Amino acid sequence: MEQKKNNIILVGFMGTGKSVVGKKLSRVLKRELVDTDSLIEKKAGKSIPKIFSEDGEEHFRGLESEVAKEVSKKKNCVIIAGGGIVLREENIRVLKTNGILICLEASPEVIYERVKNDTYRPLLQVKDPLQKIRDLLEYRKKYYDRADYFIDTSELIIDEVVDEIMKYEMSKSKVQNPK
Ligand code: S3P
Repeated sequence: MEQKKNNIILVGFMGTGKSVVGKKLSRVLKRELVDTDSLIEKKAGKSIPKIFSEDGEEHFRGLESEVAKEVSKKKNCVIIAGGGIVLREENIRVLKTNGILICLEASPEVIYERVKNDTYRPLLQVKDPLQKIRDLLEYRKKYYDRADYFIDTSELIIDEVVDEIMKYEMSKSKVQNPK
């Protein structure tokens, strides 16, 4: 019988590589890929920038919590979570019921380089995005610290991050299912 595995949930700040790493990981592990931002857009029937501008961030966070609950019922998936999903304790709690939280990290400068031409992230459409990244990272540190494992992607290529996650996942499942 195929064993049901925990979800691998990628959390972390915008621009830390969750999407590219999640896509590769789901291909390599042959697991379903789930993206909370896409599910939120589907639910709202509009893009994330539109949700923020028309309904506000709080409304977005409400939809994000609904989606966190829904995806936490799944098993065996790779879940790419939006950068702010950790801001609500309830989200962390439900996601952890069926998965491990891997937090991808990067320095503010690297994040800035990765996102500077992006217009799809409402929180960074400000005059000084680098400073905003620094401020948000500092404020959010305590929330990201709730993750189970941390990988600094600043100087890694996608395959190296994927390998590290797979090693961690294997070590966890050995502990959970000792022979
Ligand atoms: C956000 C991150 C975004 C998206 C929204 C808010 C955040 O997702 O959910 O713009 O608060 O950090 P990514 O981390 O995938 O960019």
